[in-house]
Amino acid sequence: MMGDENMNSSMEPFLPEKDGYRVAVIGATGAVGQTMLEILAERDFPVSDLVPVASSRSAGSVINFKGREYTVQDLAAFDPASVDIALFSAGGSTSLEYAPRFAETGCYVVDNSSAWRMNPEVALVVPEVNPLAMEAARHNHIIANPNCSTIQMVVALKPLHDAVPIQRVNVSTYQAVSGAGGKAIEELAKQTGQLLNAQSTDVNVLPARIAFNVIPHIDVFMDDGYTREERKMIEETRKIMDADIAVTATTVRVPVFYGHSEAVNITFEAPLSAGQVREILADAEGICVVDDPKGEDYPMPSEAAGTDHVWVGRIREDQSCPNSLHLWVVADNVRKGAALNAVQIAEILIQQP
Ligand code: A2P
Repeated sequence: MMGDENMNSSMEPFLPEKDGYRVAVIGATGAVGQTMLEILAERDFPVSDLVPVASSRSAGSVINFKGREYTVQDLAAFDPASVDIALFSAGGSTSLEYAPRFAETGCYVVDNSSAWRMNPEVALVVPEVNPLAMEAARHNHIIANPNCSTIQMVVALKPLHDAVPIQRVNVSTYQAVSGAGGKAIEELAKQTGQLLNAQSTDVNVLPARIAFNVIPHIDVFMDDGYTREERKMIEETRKIMDADIAVTATTVRVPVFYGHSEAVNITFEAPLSAGQVREILADAEGICVVDDPKGEDYPMPSEAAGTDHVWVGRIREDQSCPNSLHLWVVADNVRKGAALNAVQIAEILIQQP
């Protein structure tokens, strides 16, 4: 089980000890929901009863979990009483409406949407980084899962910030289409086939053609010219780590199915060498360092996809600016960036002293 090793001594259990818990997955037919089911099974999460939930569109369809079949329930008609933990990944408006209804029954909601993340009353948690923030959930029973790009970045930044305080972060992302859901995965595959067959492309899900292209536009534009995805990275990083860190971001969609990559430039309050960073990150929870320029070895989404770690490479001192370094950070956005982080939070909810 992941999280702060001292957690047990300082945290009362959230849920009583049981052989198994009633777990609902809201959005069970989606890209993240399906991965939540896989990860619950892989990690042998103690589930006594699994309830897959989605919209009326897929209610009645059948989902397999650990060799058993479960019928998908319609969220609009579902009674959350007696659910212990609900993992939500069905979009922001669904979470805004339904998460409080689940939480009122005493169930704990882990919400993967952006609906609750910046609510000052709601915990925004990455288990390797700020597990103690979970305390806020005792009152409102909602815990927000951060944005996928934020999660992998703060896992890499936190151990460095603990060593020497970070003043400023400037990040550019290279984000996979799976971050925009199952329909965006289909859109990249379809457009690629269309272009390779000299056909015109259909653009329905992402804001422009993604096959053989790069789109500097994720989520909507704000009045100041940033996109909301960029604003999420900036505000969530400060909420999770330290409100004094200056953060700026450019978020970009690339034609990759799974795995977000990030070029992160960090300015510290005092010097930290590339060698020290390599040592700190090699010992940090949830991180794998792959950084061998001579061997031409570095992390890539093709290798990070399907894994649980945050991969860091291309670690080098920034020659243009004092006390500054570059990192290249890659992770499976659907696993660590969403489903795995949510299941790790659920593991804290059932942890006993
Ligand atoms: P459904 O299959 O019924 O449309 P993705 O992010 O891959 O697009 O998946 C979105 C998930 O959220 C799906 O499981 C989808 O279910 C679910 N979903 C979307 N809107 C609603 C809603 N209003 N109520 C319940 N589930 C929803």
